[in-house]
Amino acid sequence: MSATRTHYDEHLGPVYVWMAGGIEAALARGEGEIRDLGLEAPATDYAVDLGAGFGMHAIPLARRGIPVLAIDACVPLLDELKRASEGLPIKALAGDLLDFRRHLEKTPRAILCMGDTLTHLPSRAEVERLFSEAAEALPEGGQLILSFRDYTRALSGAERFIPVRSDGERILTCFLEYGGERVTVHDLLHERDGAGWKQRVSAYEKLRLDPAWVVEALAARGFSPQRGAGLSGMVRIAARRG
Ligand SMILES: C[S@@+](CC[C@H](N)C(=O)[O-])C[C@H]1O[C@@H](n2cnc3c(N)ncnc32)[C@H](O)[C@@H]1O
Repeated sequence: MSATRTHYDEHLGPVYVWMAGGIEAALARGEGEIRDLGLEAPATDYAVDLGAGFGMHAIPLARRGIPVLAIDACVPLLDELKRASEGLPIKALAGDLLDFRRHLEKTPRAILCMGDTLTHLPSRAEVERLFSEAAEALPEGGQLILSFRDYTRALSGAERFIPVRSDGERILTCFLEYGGERVTVHDLLHERDGAGWKQRVSAYEKLRLDPAWVVEALAARGFSPQRGAGLSGMVRIAARRG
């Protein structure tokens, strides 16, 4: 099992919805992004959400009547997605997002890979492979939509300690350690344990993807990428084929 997969299954998955501020608040943010992107049925008649998590974008899409294939490697997060999407047209699948074409039921009009999932891929070669697979899977006018963090500028000193969320029961802090092509993200989780606190630490690597490199790699595969601002300081790129 990869470090990322173990990290999500054992460390982040069980507290992810809490970290995102609770399911309703997170779905409201996802709904805002989907509205901004103008994804509506029937023009979008099938969508794929890669690294769907608990369904922050898959659920708002499905609430618009768009059938969604939601793929994620983390089973606890997919269980949350299934609980929150009862009755909606979502197929939730546990697997590697890079294998998405194997699971398509028809040609998708939109492929989403949002919320800093792209940087989880093991290398730039895998990112390029994803772009090539998406270019082959989408029809003319279909869109690949990405949102990810730009880690190219290395933070230094105390800036590398990022408070993510805290309440009376839990505190989650990230510590970033910069390497050449990657940044190691250490998640420090403190949870109340009687009168004291229990600390758990787990780490995984993310790619330091330069948005300009992403735009170029998409253009080289026949996409017309439009760069904009995503949620919480992320870069958002909507790339139309053709
Ligand atoms: C930062 S979360 C983002 C989740 C969701 N897109 C959102 O915006 O809330 C990244 C997700 O990608 C999943 N993931 C990372 N690498 C993956 C892979 N190779 N295949 C499938 N899922 C993956 C993780 O399990 C996690 O749920």
